[in-house]
Amino acid sequence: MAGYDTHLNHPGSRLAVTAVVYDCVEAMFGVTVHDFAVVGRLPDTFCLALAREPPINPGPAVIGSGTVIGCHATIYAGARIGKDCLIGDYAVVREGAVIGDRCVIGMHSIVSYDAVLGNECRVQSHSHITDGLIAGDGCFFGVGVATFSDRRIDLDNYAFHGSQGPKFGKGVMVGSGAVIMAGIVIGNKAVIGAGALVIKSVPDGAKVLGDPAQVFKAAMVGVPTQSSAYVKHGTGKWGTAP
Ligand SMILES: CC(C)(COP(=O)(O)OP(=O)(O)OC[C@H]1O[C@@H](n2cnc3c(N)ncnc32)[C@H](O)[C@@H]1OP(=O)(O)O)[C@@H](O)C(=O)NCCC(=O)NCCS
Repeated sequence: MAGYDTHLNHPGSRLAVTAVVYDCVEAMFGVTVHDFAVVGRLPDTFCLALAREPPINPGPAVIGSGTVIGCHATIYAGARIGKDCLIGDYAVVREGAVIGDRCVIGMHSIVSYDAVLGNECRVQSHSHITDGLIAGDGCFFGVGVATFSDRRIDLDNYAFHGSQGPKFGKGVMVGSGAVIMAGIVIGNKAVIGAGALVIKSVPDGAKVLGDPAQVFKAAMVGVPTQSSAYVKHGTGKWGTAP
């Protein structure tokens, strides 16, 4: 069985005959859904997730015109994806996630529940965009970036205190393999080097490298004051507070 079809509910869309599009999906116009993709999957409500119980009815899945959904991708009910996006093969977009226009979500990446990506964001393959993460327009996440919403993994004393997804300003560039811990705030146009372990918030325009990430270059102008995690030392260099 192969090929593409149209569906009365989704005029102008190309739906692979092997794809599954559930009734909770709002009318799609000009959307391509490739083989074995699933659009509108309901979350399982009985599960052993520690953090929260998924909603029973997360609402409709909304997919903007011109968007392409790759083979084996899964878009959950309640996800909202903008126009002209590319959702790569095997990618997952969970309920409550919001993705702006002209975004690319790479193969095997996940945009977890309630995460928000602005317009023109790029997530390369095998990255984890954690629940509750917020990223402004034009952010870039390299290959295999890991972001977290909860610092606790101590199961004996585990208590969920709510999602603490990291927040990214506009135009943030995150190098491949970087790890961004829960609750971190990354300023506009900051650069996170490949492989960095980011445990403190990063000012606008700063470039941080290493494990743990240290400021390599601060912004030349307009260094913000909203984050006190990195400070300017007497030497004039930026770094972590003493
Ligand atoms: C951070 C980065 C942007 C380079 O910035 P840069 O200002 O051009 O830095 P340079 O290449 O001049 O290197 C400056 C110093 O930092 C070091 N450095 C560069 N990148 C580093 C990194 N990711 N981690 C640790 N150290 C790094 C260099 O070795 C150099 O050290 P030295 O002065 O002791 O020789 C780049 O190295 C990087 O990590 N890019 C991400 C690439 C990527 O993930 N692409 C995704 C493709 S999908």
